[in-house]
Amino acid sequence: MASMNVVPTSEAATAPRLGCKLACFASGTERHRSRSVRFHIKSGDQDVLSSRKSYIRNHVNNPGPISNSTGKDLDLESGTTPRLAGKVAIITGAAQGIGASTAKLFAKHGAKVIIADIQDDLGQSVCEEIGLENASYVHCDVTVEADVENVVNFATTKYGKLDIMINNAAILGQAKLSILDNDKADFDRVVNVNLAGVFLGMKHAARAMIPAACGSIISIGSVSSAIGGVSPHAYTSTKHAIFGLTKNVAAELGKHGIRVNCVSPYLIPPSVPEEITGLYPDIFANIYSNIKGVALKEEDVAQAILFFGSDESKYISGHNLAVDGGFTTINPGFGLFAPAKSS
Ligand SMILES: NC(=O)c1ccc[n+]([C@@H]2O[C@H](COP(=O)([O-])OP(=O)(O)OC[C@H]3O[C@@H](n4cnc5c(N)ncnc54)[C@H](O)[C@@H]3O)[C@@H](O)[C@H]2O)c1
Repeated sequence: MASMNVVPTSEAATAPRLGCKLACFASGTERHRSRSVRFHIKSGDQDVLSSRKSYIRNHVNNPGPISNSTGKDLDLESGTTPRLAGKVAIITGAAQGIGASTAKLFAKHGAKVIIADIQDDLGQSVCEEIGLENASYVHCDVTVEADVENVVNFATTKYGKLDIMINNAAILGQAKLSILDNDKADFDRVVNVNLAGVFLGMKHAARAMIPAACGSIISIGSVSSAIGGVSPHAYTSTKHAIFGLTKNVAAELGKHGIRVNCVSPYLIPPSVPEEITGLYPDIFANIYSNIKGVALKEEDVAQAILFFGSDESKYISGHNLAVDGGFTTINPGFGLFAPAKSS
C-alpha cells in the first residue's frame, strides 16, 4: 500500500482527512485521499491497471499542490485548507459541551464564531480560549425571541452576514420515569428551550440568510429523534419534533439556497446525569455503540456539524445524520450478528 509521510493529529484542524489512507474502487474510476481532493482515472480497457499503478507512483507517492473544488490550492503535505474559511457561525448553548467543542473546531477551520448562551462567564471563557479575534459571546436565552433576534443582528452587524446557524442549546428536563409523575410545567419548559428555541433560531437565521441566498442551519437532535425509550417524555418529544421542523423548513428554504439539517448524537457518557446512568450502570458502561472499541466524544459530534457547515455538504438538506455508531438502526435486543465474545 502506498503511504504518505503526513501524520494527522486531532489538534490540527487542517490535517489531511485521509492522510495515510488509500481507497480503491473496483470500477474504472479510482479516487484517492478524497474529500475535496479527488483524482479520477477513467479508462474503458485493459490499460486500467497500469494506469492506476503509474498514477499512484506519480501522485500518491509524490504529492504536490493541487486544487480543490473551489479552486483554492491545497498543500497535501500540510493540508492547509480550512473548511470554513470566511464563514460566520452562531452556536447556541456553546458555553460548554458539544457546543463549546463545535465552536473550537469551527474556529480552527477558519470560521468566526458567536457563542450564544445564558452562562455568561463560561461562554466568555470559551471565547478567550478560542481567541477574541475569532470568537464573540452574546447573552442569548433561546426561549426569548428578542435575544435570538439580537444575536443574529450581532452577526450581521459585525460581519455583514450569517452563514451557519447551529441550534444546539437544550435541556433534559426532569428525569421522572412515570408519566404520572411528569409535571406540565416541566414539559412546557423543555418544549420551550428544545423546540421553540430551535424554531426561533431557524426563523431569525432565515431572516439573515434569505437575502444572501445561501446558508446552512443545523439543529442538534438526538437518538431520541428517532426512537423512544432512551430519554424522558418531554425531551423525546422535542427531539422528534426538531427533525419534523427541519424537514419542513428545509422544504421552504431550499428555494433560497439554504440547507437545513439535523445532527443526532448518541449519549456521551459524562454528560448523561447520574440519575439516568445509575439506573442501568452495565448498559451505560458497556454498550456505547455497535462499533467495537469506539466511544462517542463531543469532538465526534462537532465533526459531523462541521460537515454540514462546510460546502462539502452542499447538496444535503432535510437530513438527520445519526452520530450513534449504528444504535438507532440496530435492535440490541435481538440480532444474528452477536458481538464477538472476549476470550
Ligand atoms: N451530550 C449528550 O449525550 C447528547 C446526546 C444526544 C443529544 N445531545 C444534544 O446535544 C446538544 C448539546 O448537548 P450537551 O450535552 O453539550 O449539553 P450541555 O448541557 O452540556 O450544554 C447545553 C448548553 O445549553 C445552554 N442552554 C440551556 N438552556 C439555554 C437557553 N434557554 N438559552 C441558551 N442556552 C441555553 C446551557 O447553558 C449549556 O451551555 C443538545 O441539543 C442535546 O440535546 C446531547
